[in-house]
Amino acid sequence: QDIPVITIDGPTASGKGTLTDEVARALGYGVLDSGSLYRVTGLAAHRAGLDLNDGAAVAALVPTLDLRFEEGRVLLDEEDVSNELRQEATGLMASQVGAHPPVRQALHQLQLDFRRLPGLVADGRDMGTAIFPDASLKVFLTASAATRAERRFNQLISKGVPAKLDDLRADLEARDARDKTRSASPLQAAADAIELDNSAHSVEASKDLVLGWWQTKR
Ligand code: C5P
Repeated sequence: QDIPVITIDGPTASGKGTLTDEVARALGYGVLDSGSLYRVTGLAAHRAGLDLNDGAAVAALVPTLDLRFEEGRVLLDEEDVSNELRQEATGLMASQVGAHPPVRQALHQLQLDFRRLPGLVADGRDMGTAIFPDASLKVFLTASAATRAERRFNQLISKGVPAKLDDLRADLEARDARDKTRSASPLQAAADAIELDNSAHSVEASKDLVLGWWQTKR
C-alpha cells in the first residue's frame, strides 16, 4: 500500500486521541478513531436490546448500522451520538463488544476504508498489530495509571460532570485488564512499535517526537 499510515495504540486515556488529532493536523492526514466504532457498536447493540455478551448477534448487527463520520462527529441513523459515545458507560459497552472476534471481524473492513490519500493517523488498541500491520510508523503510547486517571478526572470536571478520582482509576484499570487479557487482538505493542510514555510530556512535545520519527521513516 502506498497510502501512508501512522498507528497510535495504547491503553485508555493515554492521550491517544489528542495526539492523533495533532499529528494528523500537522500532516494534513485523516483520522481513524477506532474506539468510536466499538463505542457506537456497543451503544447500538444496547439500544437494540441485544445481549452484549452474544458476539454473533452483535456482529450481525454491524452491517445493518447506518453510520456516518463527519469531522469527529458520529451519526447513527442520522442522530449525532457523539456526546453519548464519550460517556464512561459507553466505553464499558465498547470494551464488552470488542472482546468478541466476530465483532472485530465485522468492523475490520470499515476501518480499512479510512485509509485514503494523502494519509491516515489511526488510533486504537490493535491498529499496528491487526488492522494496519504494514503501517510505516507505529507508536505505542502509555502513561501511568495515576496520570491517566487524573487527566480523565480533569476532563470530566471541566465539562461539569461529577467524578471521583479513585473510581475513575479503578474503571481504567479494569478496562485495561480486559483489553490486555482478551484472546482476540489483545492490547499489546506491535514488535516494531516505538513506545512513548507521555506521563511527563506535553501534547506538543509528544507531537514533535512523533513527527520527528515520521521524517526518518518515510
Ligand atoms: O479508545 P476508546 O476508549 O474509545 O475505546 C473504547 C473501548 O473499545 C476500549 O476499551 C476497547 O475495549 C475497545 N477498542 C478495541 N479496539 C480498538 C479500539 C477500541 O477493542 N481498536
